[in-house]
Amino acid sequence: MCGIVGYIGTKKACPILLAGLSRLEYRGYDSAGVSTIEKDELSLMKDKGRVKNLSNLDGIDKLEGTIGIAHTRWATHGKPSKENSHPHQDNSKTFSVVHNGIIENYNELRNFLLDNGYTFYSQTDTEVIPNLIHYHYTKDTQNDDLKFLRAVKNACLEFKGSFAIEVISKLYPDNMIVVRQDSPLVIGTCEDEKYLSSDIPAILSYTRDFYLLNDLEFVVLTNTTAKFYDKNLNEIEKQTQNIEWNACSAEKDGFDDFMLKEIYEQPTAIRETIGSKISLNTKCEFDELGFTKDYLSNLNKIYIVACGTAMHAGLSGKNAIEKLCRIPVEVDIASEFRYRDPIIDEKTLCIFISQSGETADTIAALKLSKEKKAKTLAISNVIGSSITREADYSIYTHAGPEIAVASTKAYTSQVMLINILAIYFAEVLETCTTSYLNELKKDILELPKKIEETLKCNESIKNFAKQIYQEKDVFFLGRGIDETVAREASLKLKEISYIHSDSYAAGELKHGPIALIENDITVISILTDANLIKKTVSNIQEVITRGAKTLIVTNKEIDNSMFNFVINIPDTNCFISPILSIIPLQLLAYYISKEKGLDVDKPRNLAKSVTVE
Ligand code: F6R
Repeated sequence: MCGIVGYIGTKKACPILLAGLSRLEYRGYDSAGVSTIEKDELSLMKDKGRVKNLSNLDGIDKLEGTIGIAHTRWATHGKPSKENSHPHQDNSKTFSVVHNGIIENYNELRNFLLDNGYTFYSQTDTEVIPNLIHYHYTKDTQNDDLKFLRAVKNACLEFKGSFAIEVISKLYPDNMIVVRQDSPLVIGTCEDEKYLSSDIPAILSYTRDFYLLNDLEFVVLTNTTAKFYDKNLNEIEKQTQNIEWNACSAEKDGFDDFMLKEIYEQPTAIRETIGSKISLNTKCEFDELGFTKDYLSNLNKIYIVACGTAMHAGLSGKNAIEKLCRIPVEVDIASEFRYRDPIIDEKTLCIFISQSGETADTIAALKLSKEKKAKTLAISNVIGSSITREADYSIYTHAGPEIAVASTKAYTSQVMLINILAIYFAEVLETCTTSYLNELKKDILELPKKIEETLKCNESIKNFAKQIYQEKDVFFLGRGIDETVAREASLKLKEISYIHSDSYAAGELKHGPIALIENDITVISILTDANLIKKTVSNIQEVITRGAKTLIVTNKEIDNSMFNFVINIPDTNCFISPILSIIPLQLLAYYISKEKGLDVDKPRNLAKSVTVE
């Protein structure tokens, strides 16, 4: 939830750290801070609010050190304030630490440290980290090269919870020690510089060569070396990975906001996600999976588990897998799944969808499924992310870095990939004819062009946004696959425009929610399934009768006269229609947020990567 960066090299660290923090602000933005090593002393500057407040602090431009750590915070323990901002130091100001994650047993550790004479100045869980490192450092009677590392390791082995930590010390002006457990941290490497970050895009402009860390791997960095150790401090080998994304894709490219840019990147994201997996008259390629007919036909159930938008993509996966493969699919929210003792065994396949690959609940649900002997398959946008390292199998969306907190291109890419997966399963199982699947593949291959076509609704949507941006409640309706889009559209609207909105299965309205419909309320409906359109139109008629004004997103010829506003989108196969029908509604959320003068990319209270429970 928080963002951390680090630098060790030959240049002044502070400007590099501030630039990295600005790129990571989507992960948290209630306070920020930096610590560098200045002539064998630790500097410490921090403030409440955005990174720009930190950049304006008196004296920050005087920092000369070439090694430093920095943090942008999304508060979990203790309100946003200067005292609670990171970096935190031990009482003797020997160690500076930034931390992303939660130390669940911090109260216990704090009491232990209080009993040992330590004082605490913040309400954070993090402040126990530098003090516990100091405690172990001073208790260690050996004075060898590993003393600093041993202190960090001994402290970390006492932590319960999740952490990505960077530590610097005035006693070791050429070193930085980093470690992670269930929280993201990557190390970018060049000849005489090392860049650290919670995610890859923040440091892509410096390098494409990265070390990806597993849980409890400790790293000792100098500007030219990176030494890796396991939790017993045995040295281990690690290779760098080359990341294909380019730095440009993490910049705004002339768009006002990342969200708008990412909406417009959807033709490319879908093209890249399809890649070479789909072509007419040849079977889908998933070399990394290799599932047999025997394995798939013996499955008793598939679970798709995810959070938020990724879960909505999972709902469209259920539709495709059940219809094409006739395997029962249950979709669950990760935070519920992990605590409801789900019925799983070796005949269950559990699929986890996560753009970031770092969502704490999704990772925990995956670990649970493995314990219960299910095979696990991760769908992620981030190569080497935690979820992909835990899962038995991993496949990737190729949406490129998604920076805006509200997910757009990751969602449509997830819908794409899970549909391709369903086709692959159907081909292995031989549950559909080749000609039927060929029709679907043809529609998939035409999608990027159709997305470009759909994006032309931009101006009409902008106008509609001007008409409704002051509303207090908005409703979304749909049936079948359109109901899954209604859910996603409603989430998008509420998260960036702060308008209360809800989505309903259109047929469910009359069982209660219709009581909320009153004169002039906005009801938005998606109509793409020819078999269900008449039924949904009847439900819309019911709200019109009660005074609602209506926006319709449809790919079918319908009588427009009864609706206030109709957005026509290109026709396509029902399975993949969410990839087109969500686009006008992503734009609607975007333009309403703009009309209200809100920060589209960094909505209040939200963070891009939810690495806490
Ligand atoms: C909404 C949104 C969130 C994420 C959810 C899961 O726009 O982005 O609902 O979809 O937090 O995140 P990932 O996919 O990274 O696991």
